[in-house]
Amino acid sequence: MNQTLRCAASPSLALVKYWGKADGGINLPATTSIAVTISHLETVSQVTLGSDRANEPAADEVFIEGEPQPESRFAPFFAAVREALREDLHFRVESVNTFPTGAGLASSSSGFAALATGCTAVAGRRLSGAELSALARVGSGSAARAVFGGFTRFAAGASFAEQIADENHWPELRIVIAVVQRGSKPISSRDAMIRSRDTSPYYADWVSGAQSLAEQAETALVNRDLDTLGRAMRQSYLRMFSTMFTAEPPVIFWLPESVAVIRACEQLRADGISAWETMDAGPQVKVLTTAKHTAQVCDRLHRENPSGELLVVGVGSGPRLLGTGAATASTSA
Ligand code: DP6
Repeated sequence: MNQTLRCAASPSLALVKYWGKADGGINLPATTSIAVTISHLETVSQVTLGSDRANEPAADEVFIEGEPQPESRFAPFFAAVREALREDLHFRVESVNTFPTGAGLASSSSGFAALATGCTAVAGRRLSGAELSALARVGSGSAARAVFGGFTRFAAGASFAEQIADENHWPELRIVIAVVQRGSKPISSRDAMIRSRDTSPYYADWVSGAQSLAEQAETALVNRDLDTLGRAMRQSYLRMFSTMFTAEPPVIFWLPESVAVIRACEQLRADGISAWETMDAGPQVKVLTTAKHTAQVCDRLHRENPSGELLVVGVGSGPRLLGTGAATASTSA
């Protein structure tokens, strides 16, 4: 019988963004990112060692929500697993997300963090945090951060991410996710990132200013200073998007509802409530606030867009092994 186990991992939400790749390796970031691993949302992956099919050459297979995935998307990752473990192993993976897939909610970060953890564990091996992070990175840059709970830094040019503080560092922090549109995005973050680098006249300025934003954000989060963190976050996502808006052809993930949430956050801050938004490669808006202000933030966002969905999450832990059994969505926000 094949060995099987399940593993769950949560997405890494960038407060200061990784946007653009450095030369010299797979998914090495051009910019330092600072991120939080969020609670409640999860990718749950069931990983089986070896092929199920007798008399057929072993091959890696991945299904997300029951859909077979293109081999090319996963080939470099599985090659890196075999290299890291120094064994010719093959894997069958079935993953489900407890949140919309491919909609700018960082499903590739949780997906590859769950895969890296699950593939090494099912093979009976344990890697260090840095090794696991480097492995997950080959699947997706942001996944290098999602192998850790709490708060992380993924330095420009580094091959693995590091934890800055664990999930107990800032218990009052909340993230309100305004899901303004479900469904997949028109272009992947990977392709949008490449297009921005190759065609935006602002890309070089984005890269040269990113380190200072990362340093400001890291100091602010160590001090649990939401307003200083928020200002660095705001610069980071708006500068990142300016490389997308000015790419050729332009990449515009924003919807009118996204802008309405941004404006609502401005209004909340004008009313003395700390609510700082960020966005990724999709139309959803994530708003950082504190437990004390969460109800007011939700009320305001709900009034702005009564049909939109709001998810409230906190700071999450790193990947966890769940033992054997079917991959089903085990939590919901
Ligand atoms: C906007 O990690 O999805 O979410 O490394 O090509 O897989 P690849 O890209 P990916 O990009 C994440 C981009 C972002 C910002 C971030 O998470 O830092």
